[in-house]
Amino acid sequence: MGEHMTKLALGYLCRSFPKRISSGAKCVLRLVIVGLVIWNATGVISQTGTYAQTGPPTTVTMMASSGAQDISQDARAAARSMFIERCAVCHGPNGDGTGPGAANLNPKPTNFRNLRWQRSVTDETIAKVIVYGGQSVGLSASMSPNPDLETQPKVVAALVEHVRQIGKKHRR
Ligand code: HEC
Repeated sequence: MGEHMTKLALGYLCRSFPKRISSGAKCVLRLVIVGLVIWNATGVISQTGTYAQTGPPTTVTMMASSGAQDISQDARAAARSMFIERCAVCHGPNGDGTGPGAANLNPKPTNFRNLRWQRSVTDETIAKVIVYGGQSVGLSASMSPNPDLETQPKVVAALVEHVRQIGKKHRR
């Protein structure tokens, strides 16, 4: 019975291919290929999903926070404009946490001028939050990830440096 159904289903699938297929073997081959393609595609999707939730094995964050990064002027310039383009809306252009996007947020965006916060957090955590978002370290999901930075450890390192600089310049 089960076998019969399988044959029926295979036959139906084969006949539903646009081109006429001469032999059953070819049809099965095609089905296998289609199956592999689908399996591969869903495999990739579920992998990305896992990444989004747990954060990956942290290479970019380790590289960005190792201190061994030679932060170039280019990376610093990229980080400065990125901060204004992507971060200032919430964290404020000066990093005090009062950008226009902060009004409706709870918890509020972190005030980078707050020295207690500066002391409480490692460079690696800052890097991780920037690349993988607040949720990757149990913070608010409003702090959104920046997956494109996964391949740019130097820019991430420069962003971490920028956040640290704000703390150094504005002690209170
Ligand atoms: C949509 C608003 C929003 C944007 C845009 C945003 N953030 Fe945040 N960010 C937050 C919020 C809200 C928190 C506080 C999360 C919490 O305390 O749960 C936060 C927290 C942080 C923290 C503190 C993490 C910690 O471990 O305490 C850092 C660092 C940070 N953001 C950096 C950035 C950088 C850099 C950018 C730009 C690339 C950025 N954020 C863009 C909303 C935002």
